[in-house]
Amino acid sequence: GKVVRTELDAFNARLPGNQRMSETDVLGFTRIFARYLKERSSKERSLSWDTIQSPTEEDLVPYDQIVSRSDDGSLREHSTAEARELLKKVAVLKLNGGLGTSMGCTGPKSAIEVIPDQSFMDLTVQQIAALNDTYGSDVPLLLMNSFNTHSDTEKILRKYGTSNVNIVRFYQSRFPRIQANVLSLLPSEFYVRTDSREGEGWYPPGHGDVYRSLQNSGVLDSLLEQGREYLFLSNIDNLGATVDLSILRYMDSDGGPDFAMELTDKTIADVKGGTLINYQGRKKLLEIAQVPKDHVEEFKSVRKFRVFNTNNLWVNLRALKTVLEEREDRIRPDLIVNKKQLSNGKSVIQLETAAGALIEYFERAKGINVPRTRFLPVKTTSDLLTVQSNLYKLDSQGNFCMNPRRQFSVAPHVKLGEEFKNVTDYAERLGSIPDIIDLEHLTVSGDVRFGKNVTLRGTVIIVANPGETITIPEGAILENNVCSGNLNI
Ligand code: UTP
Repeated sequence: GKVVRTELDAFNARLPGNQRMSETDVLGFTRIFARYLKERSSKERSLSWDTIQSPTEEDLVPYDQIVSRSDDGSLREHSTAEARELLKKVAVLKLNGGLGTSMGCTGPKSAIEVIPDQSFMDLTVQQIAALNDTYGSDVPLLLMNSFNTHSDTEKILRKYGTSNVNIVRFYQSRFPRIQANVLSLLPSEFYVRTDSREGEGWYPPGHGDVYRSLQNSGVLDSLLEQGREYLFLSNIDNLGATVDLSILRYMDSDGGPDFAMELTDKTIADVKGGTLINYQGRKKLLEIAQVPKDHVEEFKSVRKFRVFNTNNLWVNLRALKTVLEEREDRIRPDLIVNKKQLSNGKSVIQLETAAGALIEYFERAKGINVPRTRFLPVKTTSDLLTVQSNLYKLDSQGNFCMNPRRQFSVAPHVKLGEEFKNVTDYAERLGSIPDIIDLEHLTVSGDVRFGKNVTLRGTVIIVANPGETITIPEGAILENNVCSGNLNI
């Protein structure tokens, strides 16, 4: 630790004054890097596969068990007074440090327009505004921004200056990337800002950074002073992550959990998500990167690991403060070693942590097995097509609800090819968003374009071979159709 600290101080001194690392970032980075060096040379933290146990029903509470029901078994609505009392105790936090790179965007992911003129950020603010309107509550919205997302986020937020939502911003850390081969910092020029763009040498260290950033910014203490007891945090790209009053009431119940992770049933489309396990007497988040190679198939299977983490997390703020005040060498959420390439091809690593990984340090942690509706993420343009289509309707509370006209209860499996990866290309290739109410499966590959008002039903596969172009004509209806080569509809 000491050696790293000395090197880092010297590195920092070489940077222009206003671009140096803050003291808290220096401390945070020193800690994570020293841990990485120590752990890679010892087996101390490697997982012993045979002692992993699936969570019991007590560890992974079925959502049905915590919703309140009337005597006849129907769902009981929360009264306005009850809801308002509960909402006094909660703050909502959206993780907003990440970029939209998986959809070819250079700016923050939250700035991507999900529906015309409404970005993820707009939808989030409106959801909280609707909640506060409905219950006369004053739930604040906390945003964890990074150096990558701060200024674009501010531009979007300008129009909410006078809304009924108190929007609190704080920053996550900015850490230096490390050269993969020699495990030392890059030359200083990689960290120097040019034309107001941050140097390529920096990165935000994952959403696990949220807890220290809450503490270091003073936001954690100020929430506690205001009487907030619980924090609901989630990915800003999960459109299903709304404030759930049943879960909030569960957090607030006698002996309720001090940390709760929402997990949902796996389908074949989401075999890679992290899962909850019992490990040496504690709950633990197990991510695919931690799984030994010869157990990866077992990890992906639905049999042993039935559910995956939605990253919707509920935290008791007082318990969080206690955990953060523990001796640092006791709180060591698993490291994620993320390998990247700089634009000049140089290999670097960045050390990250995941927000769910803190679960193992809470005494009364629980998993909650939630319905799929709590997880509506937009990671790719394929997801975007689904949420932009007539499959979903946005209600007055800002919730995306599945269109009741759909016959199947699950969303279709959509797989658009590389040509659609970038949001701009995606928009350009679609004359309008097809009608997919009755679609089960769509695969599109190659140079394909869609005219306006196309309807897709059942299983549709469209493959343009290299050198070919397929244009689906305006108004076409494709039902259980495989199109390749010359198109005949
Ligand atoms: P990502 O979209 O990058 O993660 O971030 P992922 O790979 O799908 O999912 P995980 O990491 O396995 O959960 C998820 C959320 O976390 C934020 C992003 O803005 C997004 O809302 N994030 C990510 C941060 O706030 N900071 C980071 O350093 C990384």
